[in-house]
Amino acid sequence: MIIIITKKSDPITLLIDEHRIMERVMDVMEKLAEGIEEQRPISSDMILGNIGMLLECNDEYHYGKEEDILLPFLEEIGKNEIKESIQSCIAQYRENDKLLATIIDSVDGHSNGDMDATIRIMENIREFVRNVRPLYLNEDEEIFKPLKKNLTTEEMDRLSEKFQEFDYDWDGPTLNNYQKLVREMELKASYNVW
Ligand SMILES: [Fe+2]
Repeated sequence: MIIIITKKSDPITLLIDEHRIMERVMDVMEKLAEGIEEQRPISSDMILGNIGMLLECNDEYHYGKEEDILLPFLEEIGKNEIKESIQSCIAQYRENDKLLATIIDSVDGHSNGDMDATIRIMENIREFVRNVRPLYLNEDEEIFKPLKKNLTTEEMDRLSEKFQEFDYDWDGPTLNNYQKLVREMELKASYNVW
């Protein structure tokens, strides 16, 4: 008889894994910026698809779990200092919202051959990635990895259950689907830029 044991990730590891997805989305963003610099035809649809995925996967899904579930949970179990550190990471991320907004606003101009708009997209992508990439790594190393050691098995189980409820109510893709979607995006970008 063959017994298959499937290992279930703890809820904090899931958040860390989501950071890796976002980094891959940003790798594609950087490839698009590189393509623009090399004057390759980078379509507005590709740019919007990339930014759209970041907004959905990070701002709605990932931060939905951090803000709506993890923060109240940490408060409930008396870990307010960790809660504040996570809030500070999210606030630092949000300081970059205007860069994404500028990219989205410039896409029409880019489609119409406006060189200033195209350069604005390239510069804002690069500034966004430069600012945001270290935030994920910092959250992993300074907050999530220590937190994993700090939570009891019972607390992990309760958090896991809350995340499952979030996934159940969420009508977009979840972690596994995002992994597939980002792979498709990487391949699509590779035809245009590599
Ligand atoms: Fe995060």
